[in-house]
Amino acid sequence: MIKVLFVCLGNICRSPMAEFIFKDMVAKKGMAKDFYIDSAATSNYNEIDKEGIYEEAKNMLKEMKIPFNEHISRQIRKEDYYKFDYILGMEEKNVANILNIVGEDVENKVFKLLDFTEKPRDIADPWYTGDFYSTYYDICYGCEKFFDYIKKMWYYYKK
Ligand code: 4NP
Repeated sequence: MIKVLFVCLGNICRSPMAEFIFKDMVAKKGMAKDFYIDSAATSNYNEIDKEGIYEEAKNMLKEMKIPFNEHISRQIRKEDYYKFDYILGMEEKNVANILNIVGEDVENKVFKLLDFTEKPRDIADPWYTGDFYSTYYDICYGCEKFFDYIKKMWYYYKK
């Protein structure tokens, strides 16, 4: 089983969208049982406030017919580094903050989601831009390319 943790600043917009988009993607490929997928924040304020997925992010998922469950924000913890195989931030600042929490990436598990595409770059935060569509399509693109990468590695995972 491949364990994937999506991470953003607040864990109420981008990373829960990525969590449910990727869950839907692998389910449609009949591979839900091969993955454990979760999401987390680099900050702690939404965990303290027990915030769920932001309404506009939920609306985006509903519009695109991506099923989701309620998800309460939680901050990434050091133990997550050992629990997950891939820890995927949305932007460079997320990666820096992830490393501040988990320590050095000795097992090369920490990436940006768009690192698996031809043009690695940040995924904008819709909490600030208000553009949930661009973020949604960037996340889908990143998830597709990440899945292609995993597929190429499949032989080694199955050993
Ligand atoms: P996210 O967006 O990192 O994509 O979940 C944010 C959501 C909330 C806040 C910041 C970013 N906030 O400051 O509460």
